[in-house]
Amino acid sequence: MFDTRHIDPFWKGLQSCEPYRPAADWLLESPYHRPTDLSALPVETLDEPLRPDTLLTQRSLVLNRLLFNIYQQNNLYLPEGRFSDADTRAFQGFYEPRFVAANALVRPALDRTCFDFLSREISVDGPWTIEHLEEYCTRLLADYEATPSDLCLRIEASPHPQQAARAYLVQLAVDFLAEASQMALALPGNYGPAQSEMMKIFIDEFGYGVHQKKHSTLFVKTIESVGLSARMHTYYYWYLPSSLLLTNYFFWTTVHKPSWFESLGGLYWAEAVNPYFHRRFGQLLKKVFGREGTDTGYFDEHAGIDLHHRRMAFDKLMRPMVRQYGDAVIPAMVRGIETYRLLGDLTERDFLAQMDFCDALLTGGAAASGPVDLSLAEERPRGFLLEPRVCDVDTVVAVARGEVEVDAGYLQPRRLGAGEAVRVPAGRMVGARVVSEGARLSVAPERPVGRG
Ligand SMILES: [Fe+2]
Ligand SMILES: [Fe+2]
Repeated sequence: MFDTRHIDPFWKGLQSCEPYRPAADWLLESPYHRPTDLSALPVETLDEPLRPDTLLTQRSLVLNRLLFNIYQQNNLYLPEGRFSDADTRAFQGFYEPRFVAANALVRPALDRTCFDFLSREISVDGPWTIEHLEEYCTRLLADYEATPSDLCLRIEASPHPQQAARAYLVQLAVDFLAEASQMALALPGNYGPAQSEMMKIFIDEFGYGVHQKKHSTLFVKTIESVGLSARMHTYYYWYLPSSLLLTNYFFWTTVHKPSWFESLGGLYWAEAVNPYFHRRFGQLLKKVFGREGTDTGYFDEHAGIDLHHRRMAFDKLMRPMVRQYGDAVIPAMVRGIETYRLLGDLTERDFLAQMDFCDALLTGGAAASGPVDLSLAEERPRGFLLEPRVCDVDTVVAVARGEVEVDAGYLQPRRLGAGEAVRVPAGRMVGARVVSEGARLSVAPERPVGRG
């Protein structure tokens, strides 16, 4: 069933489908348009699992975009205004049964490509008892809360703290614009008291039916108050591979039912770290944007309610599950906790490295380390978009003629004129758009500087 040759026709269909076509701009206007450039990837790419050293690459970005879009087809999105003809076509296209089916057929192989490395990286050797698990969780949490948030400190210290804070909110938007939708996928069925306990957490996440209290609504108010668009996945192009991977992992553990016990561990840790981190991040937003008009309601809410949610996740979900099914289910819970910690560290590392590059770019740095060869620069029309992508090797973006804007996720491009160039370190994301007629642009691996 997982033989990739059998899914090749569906893969080819996805390579040329309408919802995955490239966009004209790096801010997207429709929740049904998800540029996913599969053209350079044959179906055999699914036979090559991502590894720790390939997680922050262009292939990982594209595969995680694809997986994100596949899982997102479980979520309903509607246009903000009336349905235009274009909206209607795009809406029906995104949820079209044959398109959904092609995505679904690809998903099992793609899940394995994206998550296989976790089984090698994480060890959950026992023996475990509920007492060990409780001790382990208490110790992890105490350590976490005793360590100052490097991320907040680095954003504060950035020469562009507002842009950096917005860029981080963009990474959170991957998940928070439809927060807890994964949990909704864990609820169907009939599996005893745990289901009703899970429902209690879910009800809080969804504002117990009051739209203004729904966590995703609180998030929207927060990001709008600092100048970001709340339109669904406007910033899709700027989602880093690690942010997509973390969200995809939550989808995977809820959709893939044998991962139930693992999903509880992930849920516990996600709720457990929120009170500390969200209190800190809410304070940071006020500091960076000023107290006036900065809505930190989303972060304030989580600093409080997730103290309950983490207790509920442990005492009402994990503990009774172990009592009922025995110690044998504990390693999967530990796996969920450890995976969340590993992916949490990865997202932070990825974001901080991207932030460093964005800071350098906006401050006028990020210079190429040697002379730039412009002989291969190609003519590009005004409006040409180099889709935001991850550079797998150190890369130089250079302008031979005209003007080009370059951005890396700060949503404030740097304008390069003729003869100017920037160096993009390996693993970093960059996008460019031509803003003058008849520009000549080169995007090429940086050549080692010769000696002598
Ligand atoms: Fe929440
Ligand atoms: Fe929560």
